Amino acid sequence: MNPQQQAQARAKVEAMRRQFEQKRAISETLAQIEHKVGVYSGKGGVGKTTVAVNLAVTLANDGANVGILDVDIDCPNVIRAMKVAEAPQVSGGRKMIPPQRFGVKVMSMGFFQQNEEEAIIWRGPMIHNAINQLLQSTDWGRLDYLVIDLPPGTSDAPLTVMQTLDMDGFVVVTTPQELAKIDAVRSINMIKKLQIEVLGVVENFTGEIFGSGAGEELAEHLAIPFLGSIAMRADYRDTSKPAALSSGAVLKEYRGIAKQVGAALAPVA
Ligand SMILES: Nc1ncnc2c1ncn2[C@@H]1O[C@H](COP(=O)(O)OP(=O)(O)OP(=O)(O)O)[C@@H](O)[C@H]1O
Ligand SMILES: [Mg+2]
Repeated sequence: MNPQQQAQARAKVEAMRRQFEQKRAISETLAQIEHKVGVYSGKGGVGKTTVAVNLAVTLANDGANVGILDVDIDCPNVIRAMKVAEAPQVSGGRKMIPPQRFGVKVMSMGFFQQNEEEAIIWRGPMIHNAINQLLQSTDWGRLDYLVIDLPPGTSDAPLTVMQTLDMDGFVVVTTPQELAKIDAVRSINMIKKLQIEVLGVVENFTGEIFGSGAGEELAEHLAIPFLGSIAMRADYRDTSKPAALSSGAVLKEYRGIAKQVGAALAPVA
């Protein structure tokens, strides 16, 4: 080997060592988390973040240790929905301690975004690195549930997140409309290809305006559980806290979904 080849070989070994260290740190962190549940949809704006946040606060409200992780890199809205004002603290062991709100620990890519209006364009390897970094550096402590708000669609971003984060299962959010249904079929098929469990379908925005039933039909069509419908309500207009904490009716809906998610995870555990 000439000196250049030797240097290359050393660099390769060093990169492998770093990768190994990172993997070890991540599995150490994740070992303390009982269930990792992704919330996902084929298209944007169907209420993913709303479902993730309300599911998380409902589980916490009923006594579970819960964290929420926002990996919707292009559009990290969890911080706003959870009303988190402070960035994570850094512990003595140089790990980030997620701020806690409504009984839920919150970590988001949005903490590291300079300007809220700025659109971030990420590519596969960058997403992979950013998620790894975030997973490696966060000290969640012991959690019963980590709810993960995923980017919508079937592009690079959600795929990379799914491959990087070893999740126990997914909740798919859809609307009572036909178009969402087609998107949802596509996304569920994609998830199935990655061999990740689909825990079931939630229909959001159910009611007079958009109708109801598409979620249930979709679940039946794909032979996966239907977890429940969430009505379109004015309660969501009050953004001072998640609707499940201000409306008994919303809390009841989310309790039903939480119960089903727990049941669907049981055989996985
Ligand atoms: N059941 C509901 N009733 C009334 N409003 C709702 C309901 N669910 C969600 N919303 C509202 O709809 C808007 C979009 O919801 P949300 O941000 O959760 O969607 P999303 O799927 O996360 O969007 P994105 O793809 O941009 O991340 C929000 O303003 C939210 O408050
Ligand atoms: Mg969202």
